[in-house]
Amino acid sequence: MKKNITAKYKGVIFDLDGVIVHTDKMHYAAWKSLADRLEIPFDEEVNNRLRGVSRTESLEIILERSAQVYSDAQKLRFSEEKNESYLRYLDGLSPHDVSPEVIDTLRLLKGAGLKIAIGSSSKNAKTILKNVGLTDFFDAVSDGTNIEKTKPDPEVFLKAAAMLRLAPSECAVVEDAITGIEAAVRGGFTAIAIGNAASSNKAEFNITSISELQKIILGDIYAE
Ligand code: BG6
Ligand code: MG
Repeated sequence: MKKNITAKYKGVIFDLDGVIVHTDKMHYAAWKSLADRLEIPFDEEVNNRLRGVSRTESLEIILERSAQVYSDAQKLRFSEEKNESYLRYLDGLSPHDVSPEVIDTLRLLKGAGLKIAIGSSSKNAKTILKNVGLTDFFDAVSDGTNIEKTKPDPEVFLKAAAMLRLAPSECAVVEDAITGIEAAVRGGFTAIAIGNAASSNKAEFNITSISELQKIILGDIYAE
C-alpha cells in the first residue's frame, strides 16, 4: 500500500555512459582504433580507468603505455580523431539502445515525483540523449560542457543538483565509474554503484541491475 511518508530522496542523478546507454563500449572501440594505429597496448583494464574522466585525461592515460612522446598539437589531433570515430558510432544510436529496464525505472521515479538529472563528463551527452530519444525525459543535464573539473571532483553532480534545486543530501547518484563514485561521496550524495564501479567498496549501495533502484529509492515511499 502506498504511504506518502517523508522520502529521503527527492532527486536521482544518473551518469550517462555505461549507466543509461552502453556508449562505454563505443568509447572503448574508438580509443582502441587510435591505440592500435599508434601501436599502444590497450585493453579493458586500461579502459576501466577511462570511465568518468575527460577526453583529454583519457588520452593521457592511454599514452602512459606509449614508447613515444607526443606534442600538444599531436595530442589534440589524436583526441579529435578519437571523437570523430566515436561520433560515427553515436550516429547509429536509436531509442532501441536504451533498455526497457532503464525506461521503466526512469518512469517509475518520475511517477513518484522525483526529479531526475544527468551528471556526465561527456561533451557529447546532449547528442546521445537526442539520438536515443531521452532529451525531454530529464529535468536537468549537467555535462562536460558546463564543468571545469572532471570526476572525481564533484562539480558535475553539484551543478546537476543545483539545476534541480536540491541539496546533495536529497539526491542519489548512480555511477559505473569508480571516479564517479568518489565524486558522489565527496559531494555529499548517496552513491549507488553499478557495473564496473560495483566492485569497489566505496558506494553506499552496489547494484547489478538498474531496476534495483526502485527498492533503494522508492522503498520508503512504497513501504507497507
Ligand atoms: C564519460 C566517459 O562519460 O565521458 C569517459 O565515461 C569519457 O569515458 C568522458 O572520456 C568524455 O566523453 P566525451 O564524449 O566528451 O569524449
Ligand atoms: Mg559512466
